[in-house]
Amino acid sequence: MRIVLLGPPGAGKGTQAERVAARLEVPHISTGDIFRQAVSQGMPLGLKAKEYMDKGLLVPDEIVIAIVEERLRQNDASTGFVLDGYPRTVGQAIALDLALGKMGIGIDAVVNLDVPDDIIIERLTGRRVCRSCGSNYHVRFDPPREEGTCDKCGGALYQRDDDKEETVRRRLEVYKEQTEPLIEYYREKGTLVSVDGTGGMQEVFEDILRLVGRR
Ligand code: AP5
Repeated sequence: MRIVLLGPPGAGKGTQAERVAARLEVPHISTGDIFRQAVSQGMPLGLKAKEYMDKGLLVPDEIVIAIVEERLRQNDASTGFVLDGYPRTVGQAIALDLALGKMGIGIDAVVNLDVPDDIIIERLTGRRVCRSCGSNYHVRFDPPREEGTCDKCGGALYQRDDDKEETVRRRLEVYKEQTEPLIEYYREKGTLVSVDGTGGMQEVFEDILRLVGRR
């Protein structure tokens, strides 16, 4: 199955994409993770992307589109994927349709996670990420067993630079201007399903599986 997870920053796309991908046995492809990995490895792509990420802005379409198209051509994506954080502009959505069309495939479902701004700010300012394996935690909603240490690999937890409140507010503005129009784009195509993302992580996961399973 080929699924896109749509929603504002902090809606829980990464949290749910990981679970849905594991359940469907397909890769979880996160453009944010690809950029953060490139940053941590000091790659030119990472340095370029960081300029935008730290300001809460989107990385230009031509950079993101090329990266995703290359990733989708890899073997493990041939039976399906969960795209997390892509597309994020109408230009990216059109490019994705064209790329998949050339491969003779299409998106089965676009899951829109609906979460209001006040909850998003609480989620993002409390998020902590493992420096070693990238696992996400939340100081209140999903704390690690030992403060500051990843349960899975023992790595140190840190706060993302773009999770400071001022940058989160900028990311929300950018989401409303550039990404929210995709809800209408996919509704018109008939692939959109909307999920209330304010419930607990397991509840949201079950809702997604139920709605995606109907398609
Ligand atoms: P990216 O990493 O994709 O950031 P984002 O979309 O802003 O999403 P987040 O990772 O912040 O949130 P999420 O929805 O995945 O929530 P999560 O599950 O972590 O992108 C970062 C940057 O890269 C962008 O700003 C941009 O610069 C660039 N970029 C990436 N893709 C791009 C593209 N396509 N085009 C251009 N630029 C691009 O959850 C958040 C927190 O809440 C966690 O702590 C989690 O534990 C907690 N939580 C999750 N679900 C629940 C729940 N149900 N209840 C309580 N807590 C919860």
